[in-house]
Amino acid sequence: MSKVSVIGAGNVGATCVNVLSFYQIADEVVMLDVKQGIAEGKALDINQTATLLHFNTRISGCTNDYEKTANSDVVVITSGVPRKPGMTREELVDVNAGIIKSVVENVLKYSPNAILVIVSNPMDTMTYLTYKIAGLPRNRVIGMGGTLDTARFKCYLGKALNANQNEIEGFVIGAHGDTSMIPLVRYAAYKCRPVTDLLDKETLDKVVSDTMLGGATITSLLGTSAWYAPGAAAAFLVEAIIHDEKKIIPCSVYLEGEYGQNDICIGVPVLIGRNGVEEILDYHLNSEEKELFIKSSESLRATNAMLKDLGVI
Ligand code: LAC
Repeated sequence: MSKVSVIGAGNVGATCVNVLSFYQIADEVVMLDVKQGIAEGKALDINQTATLLHFNTRISGCTNDYEKTANSDVVVITSGVPRKPGMTREELVDVNAGIIKSVVENVLKYSPNAILVIVSNPMDTMTYLTYKIAGLPRNRVIGMGGTLDTARFKCYLGKALNANQNEIEGFVIGAHGDTSMIPLVRYAAYKCRPVTDLLDKETLDKVVSDTMLGGATITSLLGTSAWYAPGAAAAFLVEAIIHDEKKIIPCSVYLEGEYGQNDICIGVPVLIGRNGVEEILDYHLNSEEKELFIKSSESLRATNAMLKDLGVI
């Protein structure tokens, strides 16, 4: 029996629960929110799709009752406020840090063995905060950002190539930030053919900038941040854990010397299985990519420093 809890029943949390339930990724899914009735209502609504969509996952919702999340194998944390048009993810740090701190403490009280998947923004900094306060080994604290950014990269590559996105390989590493993520064009391929052989530089540059602004574009269209792809990305990660898939997915993890960095959570390719992060893979970066990775890390360190100023770590 596998149990997954999703904290936060906003758009991202509820979409994640919907995907987890529909694909029967876990046997039991619990959704929790601070707002009275929201998680219960959305859980009931999703539950009522069971006979329509042919699944039998057990789903429930609760208002701030962490006992209901007890003994979860994986807990997905989506709590906090989303960004509004024109805002960077980093501007959310002071509001969301306090929320994440209390969520993590409550989650671990009832699920001390869970693997934590962090979705809340600014995602890398919230992952770092979680790692710092949870006292868990680093394989059990996983930030979701690169999973989502990689899906967006494949989407834009698919459009540029007029090809099936599922036939495309690619990675986005670095921070989950509009100016600091790193779509690795050199490693991207369509049916084993490098995309650099298939698309001209101008087209590839546009794919890269569209990917980097993937979240911001949707935020300006909708007036709030995206949820279908973020919710699905979190569920994709949960599936790789629960089903011990040994998939290589770019995730934000705590580095101890890998990629030349220490004391930071940032997106790198990792092997995901039942133990969470089972290996950090060392993809060779050329000098240009290394420079981008250093810049990306520096931008995260600046945001992480705010956690100390706020007194949460
Ligand atoms: C995005 C937000 C969720 O990229 O970070 O859509």
